[in-house]
Amino acid sequence: MAYTVPKLTDYSEAMLQRVRDELLSALEYQAEETESEADLKNFRDTWVGRKNGVVTQINELWLKAAPKEAKKAVGQVVNELKTSIERYAEQAALLLSGITLDRALDAATRQGETPLPVPYFGYQEIVESEKPSESVDITLPGVRRPLGAEHPVIKTMHEIVGVFQKLGYSVAEGPVVETDYYNFEALNFPPNHPARDTQDTLFIAGQQAKPLRERLLLRTHTSPVQIRTMEKMQPPIRIVIPGVVHRNDPPDASHSPMFHQIEGLAVDTNITFGDLKGTLDHAMKALYGSSVKTHFRPSFFPFTEPSAELYVTCFICGGSGKRGSDPCRPCKQTGWIEVLGCGMVDPNVFEFVKDNGYDPKKVSGFAFGAGIDRLALLKYGVDDLQYFFQGDVRFLEQWA
Ligand code: DAH
Repeated sequence: MAYTVPKLTDYSEAMLQRVRDELLSALEYQAEETESEADLKNFRDTWVGRKNGVVTQINELWLKAAPKEAKKAVGQVVNELKTSIERYAEQAALLLSGITLDRALDAATRQGETPLPVPYFGYQEIVESEKPSESVDITLPGVRRPLGAEHPVIKTMHEIVGVFQKLGYSVAEGPVVETDYYNFEALNFPPNHPARDTQDTLFIAGQQAKPLRERLLLRTHTSPVQIRTMEKMQPPIRIVIPGVVHRNDPPDASHSPMFHQIEGLAVDTNITFGDLKGTLDHAMKALYGSSVKTHFRPSFFPFTEPSAELYVTCFICGGSGKRGSDPCRPCKQTGWIEVLGCGMVDPNVFEFVKDNGYDPKKVSGFAFGAGIDRLALLKYGVDDLQYFFQGDVRFLEQWA
């Protein structure tokens, strides 16, 4: 429905005010009556249509036609009207989307569906001010947001950390990209020591110009955090250090170039091998049940002296080496499973942090380090380590 703007018979203030008021009330009326897409199109054609819309008309018939001396006053009214028209056009569109939403809600209620739970205040807010310009199709199914679950390796890590936290240990962490100094040298692996060969890893390229101890590599164990923590904290300390480590191990059912370890360190005056045995025996019973037995066998690590490997009775076959009449595979029929490396902190290691209160003549300590992934593998009866790192939800949701 075309709307023809009133004619200006003179340019007096009274005349301008009258035509302005007339247009504004027509504008307001039509905006309120906009209840369908067709109404909205009609509204736009009438007011902002390029050919014969009101904005075009007042530009042509009022402003351009006005004599020079009246241009300023007419221009002001024209601008004011243009702003109002734009605002009402926007509001009419918003109002319409609100009406569409109302109707959809009504229809859903009539069909016995529960309408979307729209918070009362939020809904009011939408109706009165910022209505979305698109309507909501409440008949569409909602977006499913599946809850995540703890990864079995992280779950196992948390369980072990929990056992030591109850014993008064705190948690420390360190960088995964480590220097040769912390990863090897300060742990009593001197340059060219053959024990380095057992822990080959990725080195960051282009560092030949740096002294060896400053060169960066992906840490091969969590043990460097022993040194980093002792540099920061004076004895006595009791810490566990969970984290990611890397080695040059091609992936297979029991190896991965990336895996997880948890390290432990206790330093005080008069810490003995008896403390080490008692602590680890308690931790294994807390993790695998009170009937589990522990057993220490001599071993070698550059940073502990003496060193040992800890075995527990196989938690699959209970130590018998058999599952029914079949041989128990996880313990290779021995009835024992190796769970970690440990030992008394080598005095040479304390030498590197001597100035921070770790005089090897005054303090002693024990340390241990366990591979978490293998423990999780055994605990959950998973037969291939690679499953842990492939991110297949069908596998991982078994822990949900
Ligand atoms: N860092 C050793 C490894 O990755 C494990 C280890 C052995 C850690 C003995 C220790 C320890 O703290 O005392 O093979």
